[in-house]
Amino acid sequence: MTPIESKGRSPFFPDQPVPVELFVGRGEQIKRIMTRGVEQAAKGKPTYVFLEGEYGIGKTSVAQFVQWMAERDKKLLGIYTTLDRAESMDDVGIAVLDGTLKAGVYNPTLGEKVRAAFAKYMGEQTLFGVTIRTEALRKEGPQITQGLLPFLNQTWSRVKDDGIRGICLVLDEINGIANNPKFAPFLKGMSDVNAPTSPGKPSVPLLLILVGVEERRRQIGSHHPSVGGIFDVVKIDPLSNDEMADFYLRAFESVKFTVEKSAMDILTHYAAGFPKIMHIIGNAAFWIDRDGIIDKADAISAVITAADEIGKKYVDHQVYEAIRSETYRSILHKIGKIGPADLMFTKKDIEGVLAESEKKKLNNFLQKMKDLKVLRSSGSAGSYEFASRMVRLYIWLRSLDKGKKS
Ligand SMILES: Nc1ncnc2c1ncn2[C@@H]1O[C@H](COP(=O)(O)OP(=O)(O)OP(=O)(O)O)[C@@H](O)[C@H]1O
Ligand SMILES: [Mg+2]
Repeated sequence: MTPIESKGRSPFFPDQPVPVELFVGRGEQIKRIMTRGVEQAAKGKPTYVFLEGEYGIGKTSVAQFVQWMAERDKKLLGIYTTLDRAESMDDVGIAVLDGTLKAGVYNPTLGEKVRAAFAKYMGEQTLFGVTIRTEALRKEGPQITQGLLPFLNQTWSRVKDDGIRGICLVLDEINGIANNPKFAPFLKGMSDVNAPTSPGKPSVPLLLILVGVEERRRQIGSHHPSVGGIFDVVKIDPLSNDEMADFYLRAFESVKFTVEKSAMDILTHYAAGFPKIMHIIGNAAFWIDRDGIIDKADAISAVITAADEIGKKYVDHQVYEAIRSETYRSILHKIGKIGPADLMFTKKDIEGVLAESEKKKLNNFLQKMKDLKVLRSSGSAGSYEFASRMVRLYIWLRSLDKGKKS
């Protein structure tokens, strides 16, 4: 086959939620949110879900996929909000208002109706759509936090006639706000006020989905004793090998590439169930390949390129910066040199290759690496394993570089 001179669009999106057509797995979690969350809300019962999982595991993708299905099949208006920059409760109000003004991603007509209700926040029409008046948002957004339910009710009333049965509000990236002592009581208060206790009392048919790492859920719980009970916790785990293979096949097929079995084994082995890493490796393979067939050599190059990219972005900053001590760095390089394949090692293995001065600092070093989440204890005493294959690979790559320089 002749080499491909110009490539199409890469089907990999390492920094964005996955497009619906490339979404794989998560059947169980989605079904749970659809039946216990979406359907209940559509029938008028307010429900609350906490979607949790490690960084980059695919939480936002699941939240947005659910919103898409909820709007299409169960007629819930999706409002997506990220609180990554929110620290105060006022910021939460501003973010919700902003998200509301952007509603209707999947159904622009609904979006138009919502925006018409909040015309005072809308600025001019530009090439990229209508701008939002940030000053007005900042000024009035804070009131939304105090009156979130009436606000959502008002939003809902605008689209009720279109058959919309309620609202699916996603509060993503709650990291900053979770530790604010006012956030937990705010959630509890909202759930209490919105509970359909008396028959005549109207409640807003709302599905609220909070998205974050487990630690944040615990933090919120520590600020209010009974807030934890409100949420149905749905956990996102690593993808299985079959799901990753399904993803790679679909993604490469969409640009008319094929993937050889030996290459697929390498891609999935190193991605190890982490969707973000899966995309970074896939993207590297897409650009490395010259003939539309991903073979073993392409896969190996892709994994090494990806490890380098991931390492430079995350490991250099979080690990090498944190261990400035020459001794620590030297221990890390010696562990690195053991090879890229073994995730596990014992303290004894390492002691064999260390100098006396390094041996003395080994315990502190191992603890530090555990704190940095590079290593974790593995089963028996004195044995450790790398938390990520790609980080392990990168540390090996750096140890080779160091060997060359010295
Ligand atoms: N089910 C999936 N199928 C295919 N790709 C996915 C899937 N879930 C996530 N991804 C991809 O993995 C990467 C991380 O996903 P996402 O942003 O949803 O994770 P996250 O848990 O929200 O991450 P963060 O902790 O950074 O917020 C993205 O590139 C996304 O496209
Ligand atoms: Mg996310």
